[in-house]
Amino acid sequence: MIRPIRKAVFPVGGLGTRFLPATKAMPKEMLPVVDKPLIQYAVEEARAAGIEEFIFVTGRGKQAIEDHFDRSYELEDVLRERDKRDLLDLINSWMPAAGQVSYTRQMEPLGLGHAVRCAKALVGDEPFAVLLADDLILAKEACLAQMVEAYNNVGGNIIAAMDVPPEHTKRYGVIKPGKNSDRMVEVTGLVEKPAPAEAPSNTAVIGRYILQPSVFHHLDNTQRGAGGEMQLTDALAKMIGEGPFHGLRFDGERYDCGDKIGFLHANIAFALARPDMNKDLSVILRDISKTL
Ligand code: G1P
Repeated sequence: MIRPIRKAVFPVGGLGTRFLPATKAMPKEMLPVVDKPLIQYAVEEARAAGIEEFIFVTGRGKQAIEDHFDRSYELEDVLRERDKRDLLDLINSWMPAAGQVSYTRQMEPLGLGHAVRCAKALVGDEPFAVLLADDLILAKEACLAQMVEAYNNVGGNIIAAMDVPPEHTKRYGVIKPGKNSDRMVEVTGLVEKPAPAEAPSNTAVIGRYILQPSVFHHLDNTQRGAGGEMQLTDALAKMIGEGPFHGLRFDGERYDCGDKIGFLHANIAFALARPDMNKDLSVILRDISKTL
């Protein structure tokens, strides 16, 4: 039986050291691409995929995330007085309902696997999604929705997959591919951040996962791996053979917003995709390119 995906976990406890000094006093997940924080894109993507419960694994100094997903009565009062209906809509229309959001703290920065394990009690015994907000994906159909569609056909575990230049394997979890069919690739092995010479392919894991709850059992038995952190990839590698396990080569463009250049690229791409900004920004970019 293929059980529905109702819950999503958002690991947001990371220190964001790749983005200092911006992230000294501000969560990296609150960095805006155009006019929206990264974490809001991730939550909206999850909603578009039918997610009903949003679980944040947070940490110290991440209060702004909780405030962003809460009503702001003062601001609402002022906007109502000024009859700014469109702005009221911008701050409220995308909000999950009361009770749909929960928070737990990671307490120690021990890695992505550890962050996901912190959500064990809140997820319980059902399959769930994990979304990493700094992987931002511009797509016609939300990436997680594409994955849920694939999951509804085959079940098991599904991870977002993308081919990367071979010299970049050290930045990613990398898939050892089995059978390829259509956009799906069978996962027969997984390695976290291998050097190009050790990489089983150049098909990388992108930060979207649909996982069976047995992952928690494996996380309980996972030692620290690459970079001295408890790696989600290592626990996933132990799940191979338990049931179907696929990578989905999703349709869409992915931007690494944990990286300064990737973040700038995302801002330009997302702004160009907006009808209210495309024209003005194109003029600016054309002018700049003349000076290069
Ligand atoms: C994490 C995962 C890695 C994955 C990547 C995608 O790494 O550990 O397997 O490929 O996200 O962005 P991080 O970017 O947190 O180092």
